[in-house]
Amino acid sequence: MRQKIKYVHRGEIVELENIDPTMTVLNFLRYEQALTGTKEGCAEGDCGACTVVLGDLKDGKLRYQAVNACIQFLPTLNGKELITVEDLKSANGDLHPVQSAMVDANGTQCGFCTPGFVMSLFAEMHTGKTPDRRHIDNILAGNLCRCTGYGTIVDAAITVTKTDTIDQFHAREKATIEKLETLMNEPGLQLDWQNRTYFAPKITEELTELLATYPDAVLLAGATDVGLWVTKQHRELQTVIYIGQIESLKSITEKESGLHIGAGATYSDAWRPLEKLHPDLGELIRRIASTQIRNCGTIGGNIANGSPIGDMPPALIALGAQLHLRSKKGLREILLEDFFIEYGQQDLKSGEFVEAVFLPHHKPESHFATYKISKRFDQDISAVCGAFHLILNGNTVEDIRICYGGMAGTPRRAYKAEQELIGAEWTDATIASAMLKMTEDFQPLNDMRASSQYRMVITQNLLRKFHIETTIPDQATRIVGEGGLAYA
Ligand code: FAD
Ligand code: FES
Ligand code: FES
Repeated sequence: MRQKIKYVHRGEIVELENIDPTMTVLNFLRYEQALTGTKEGCAEGDCGACTVVLGDLKDGKLRYQAVNACIQFLPTLNGKELITVEDLKSANGDLHPVQSAMVDANGTQCGFCTPGFVMSLFAEMHTGKTPDRRHIDNILAGNLCRCTGYGTIVDAAITVTKTDTIDQFHAREKATIEKLETLMNEPGLQLDWQNRTYFAPKITEELTELLATYPDAVLLAGATDVGLWVTKQHRELQTVIYIGQIESLKSITEKESGLHIGAGATYSDAWRPLEKLHPDLGELIRRIASTQIRNCGTIGGNIANGSPIGDMPPALIALGAQLHLRSKKGLREILLEDFFIEYGQQDLKSGEFVEAVFLPHHKPESHFATYKISKRFDQDISAVCGAFHLILNGNTVEDIRICYGGMAGTPRRAYKAEQELIGAEWTDATIASAMLKMTEDFQPLNDMRASSQYRMVITQNLLRKFHIETTIPDQATRIVGEGGLAYA
């Protein structure tokens, strides 16, 4: 394994060694490189002031994605191109078209958030798409501004995304791709610094070996949880094994029997394939965090962290997903719902990691919905997240799976309510009895996100909403946004 981090910056390959592998990209830029254009607001992935853009190769093409530098560890730059706000101006010092658009639209006041917004828009400009107004809200949801009121920033975004701009990054695209291809062929990483070691294997066999040798190592995927252990809890991580360089773990494959999602696939990568299975799965992903977080955070991390309020598990459990767990001993397959034992305890054995989640195809005539309830629409954690999967035979419930996040110490099915419904008519009356049964299924918590009473009422009402949506399709149950797309 190699002892140096190698990444592309300003058209050149940069090599780093003898450096703290849990230093964040943000601290490296500001304290080691004196590149202070990238700001620190929250240091926890919420405000977007620290947004930088990373380039990597996806299906042989150069892809630019905005990420939060404050929670990404420096070695995760390995094999990628780094772009910061300082890099945008042209060789003669002119502002980049994104920066000009912000100036022309008066999209900046105190300026603290501006570099982050500029970088998010720069990444979007490089997708080459012309997004609608709703998409602009999506890409900017992870950038907070306390001054402008956003109108002028949105005006700048509309200008940028409507203009065909060629910049210096387009001009050197071929050379960048060649450099990234060279880096892709390099071996994995092992960085030793003081008492810390960071590994970035390239294949699963290396990973299983490392986990067998270091069973207590911290497994690192998108760092959208682990990054905060360092920046907010000031934890010292001694041995870290990063899975983001194992290409096979990022694969998403459509099989005859269902969808295989590698544990290292990010929300951004899984978004369209999941949306194709069901529009509500796409909507669910849109409601998870922000573009910057979705570009890093993985489906595997959302499962493995065992959180009772992770947004993916309820939907995946309702759809009968299976989990693939791998160790040096081989593959173990379990139902996803069996993975969650109790709060903080998952069925993950020593030396094992989550390799993939498998989502079997649901019957075309089945009904599915998932709803996220949070205080804020964007960038918020669920108070309750509910998912429903129903198979009807005529008007009789042949099977139903109901799963909630936020109602117990783990994502949990409403077994009593399900039993009340299976074999019964799918009517208002049976829904009312099943809603009552939910008080036997759950004794929800009171916390800052919601009271116990609110959680129970919302949980019951989501079942009623699902019933209305399956029986009165014309009934308006969701707020319809621009472009006719439904908000849950
Ligand atoms: P990491 O942080 O890398 O790891 C998380 C945990 O899982 C660690 O314990 C790690 O060791 C373990 N792990 C990771 N991969 C594996 C694997 N393959 N096998 C075994 N163990 C593994 N979550 C939501 O559900 N909804 C939200 O709306 C949401 N919003 C957020 C907003 C912000 C600003 C932030 C910072 C986080 C948010 N999260 C949200 C939480 C987080 O983004 C998700 O849980 C994410 O999916 C974690 O994945 P990751 O790849 O970043 O995991
Ligand atoms: Fe707020 Fe990074 S500093 S998201
Ligand atoms: Fe001041 Fe956005 S311009 S925070």
